[in-house]
Amino acid sequence: MTWNDNMPTPLNSSLIFERCRSEGFEVEVEVLDTVDSTNSRLLEADISSPVFLCAAERQTVGRGRRGKVWYSPESGVTFSMRFNLSESVSRFNGLSLLVGAILCDSLRGLGVVDAMVKWPNDVLVHGSKLAGILIESRTTGLNKETVLVVGIGVNYKRGKEARLIDQASTDLDALCGSGELPDRSVLIGDIATRLLSVVSEDVPGALIQLSARWQEYDALNGTWVMAKVASECIHGRAAGIDTNGNLRIDTADGICCLNSADVSVRPEND
Ligand code: BTN
Repeated sequence: MTWNDNMPTPLNSSLIFERCRSEGFEVEVEVLDTVDSTNSRLLEADISSPVFLCAAERQTVGRGRRGKVWYSPESGVTFSMRFNLSESVSRFNGLSLLVGAILCDSLRGLGVVDAMVKWPNDVLVHGSKLAGILIESRTTGLNKETVLVVGIGVNYKRGKEARLIDQASTDLDALCGSGELPDRSVLIGDIATRLLSVVSEDVPGALIQLSARWQEYDALNGTWVMAKVASECIHGRAAGIDTNGNLRIDTADGICCLNSADVSVRPEND
């Protein structure tokens, strides 16, 4: 990729590495110019480091949830973290909600005070998508170790590809104002250290705590929603999450709790 003056400072692996180390976390950091997808790379590669972070200037096949494309222009914020775990991935149920809250905390620290999570894991500002999360896992080896990959994309400064996104979206350039855009390596380092804190601690416990203060992050709070579960549609008012991270919907038949695996949620008037 050829650099020009309109582009932000190139990603810097040392900055990301040092930020993590200053918080007590040892992370192997790789910065690539171009990759198909940082998630695919970390899922497929043979990596022995317990924690590995891959950030890329550009993805050619950036992937979103439910088979969607994640448009990854040059000089975006696209990175993934891989955790090699000796335990079952079930301990990480609901992690996407914690990552959403982490992203909001980090972005609010940059002045994006209205960053909220649309369950299960989109980060929105006034209804427009700013960031997305793709969590994937696989088991490996004789001991059935778990490879957990958390991929994060934050719209930084979109170009013409903004037109291709099939939902309302925004970027840090619009929200922070030109000249005040954060350094991408500093932002990635900040998000990474927050994520490391959560993953290294008690995830189910953190989810219980988050459920009690979900209103601080809940983009759906009290809105009418329609949840699609297989061929069924559930209508009602979003009523927060339970301690397992399930979405609570207040329906005519009472509270209905839905998990993230098979549900799409849309405001009824969409
Ligand atoms: C979504 O909102 O649908 C999830 C988007 C996740 C995008 C990130 S960018 C870094 C990582 N690599 C990918 O291919 N996807 C995730």
